[in-house]
Amino acid sequence: MKVGDTHYRSIWFDQASGQVQIIDQRWLPHEFRVVDLRTRDDFARAIRDMWVRGAPLIGATAAYGVAVQMALDASDESLSETWNILHETRPTAINLRWALDDMTALLLPLPIKARAAAAFARAHEICDQDVECNRQIGLHGLQIIKTIAAGKKTGEVINILTHCNAGWLATVDWGTATSPMYHAHQAGIPVHIWVDETRPRNQGALLTAWEMNSHDIPHHLIVDNAGGHLMQHGQVDLCIVGTDRTTAHGDVCNKIGTYLKALAAKDNDVPFYVALPSPTIDWTVKNGIAEIPIEERSDIEVTHVQGRSPDGSIGEVQISPDGTPGGNPAFDVTPRRLITGLITERGVCEASPEGLAALFPDRVLP
Ligand code: MRU
Repeated sequence: MKVGDTHYRSIWFDQASGQVQIIDQRWLPHEFRVVDLRTRDDFARAIRDMWVRGAPLIGATAAYGVAVQMALDASDESLSETWNILHETRPTAINLRWALDDMTALLLPLPIKARAAAAFARAHEICDQDVECNRQIGLHGLQIIKTIAAGKKTGEVINILTHCNAGWLATVDWGTATSPMYHAHQAGIPVHIWVDETRPRNQGALLTAWEMNSHDIPHHLIVDNAGGHLMQHGQVDLCIVGTDRTTAHGDVCNKIGTYLKALAAKDNDVPFYVALPSPTIDWTVKNGIAEIPIEERSDIEVTHVQGRSPDGSIGEVQISPDGTPGGNPAFDVTPRRLITGLITERGVCEASPEGLAALFPDRVLP
């Protein structure tokens, strides 16, 4: 998508320097910084410390991490060590394991000399596939928005609430939840986005708002607690969120606070959709609440907030008393009964084993 007038992806292979480059998202929206990732440790740090984040982008980054390591040492030991090192960086987003398994299955049968080239080719392909999946999600989601628009007066604004950042920065391009919004905006449908700030890391305030600004999509940043009130007052036509792991039975694990939005949406008859590319489905898990590991992050993310000071410097301030500990579960699970539909690259389905099986008959359900 756009940064100024330039088209960017969130990760790419730079032919000129021969390096994998990313947008270092820790500094957005205040500074736009591009950095090289040169070693396996760089990739692990970038994922763990959220220089990159968002389930699909974490997967794409891991794929390039394997490729970079294969160029240094393509032995079986190096491959399995890389799987372990990258896998332990973030436990919840399933795209990470999906990408590592995919790369390993491709590379292991190959002669050692062929592995680096094959790994880079597959990493490029994973990125391209993510872009295409998200474009398709956007086209399917656009139909939902068009249907809502058809029930309104001509030109009336459609208000969409989203949580966290499931935008192009969380994927390779387009985003998942934001792709229908971008497509609707490009089609001339008047949309307005309620952007949840998404404490504690504020991905909504820092990243989604930046994306909406950059693409001139009307939006307001709201505190996480405002959604229920807006829904009660008819100011939300639909919610679209992303997901870090969706079970084969249709439960959705996403950024902490998603569940509360889904409850409020159900109580107010507001359609609640989840947008996801198929690598985000964990076909091995039935019961999301019992089986998905929820990442517990540092309490500093709760007790402190990062922002820009009037002098332009970016820093953190403490917002709680010395000695008060923070609790920081990073994700929650929204049960399928609260979800109106799943928007995938193959179409929209009910959040249920039957709904997913109809779209993905090639997958075996547990
Ligand atoms: O902790 P993050 O920033 O990696 O969490 C991101 C989210 O929860 C997104 O909503 C999710 O990955 C879906 S992304 C397209």
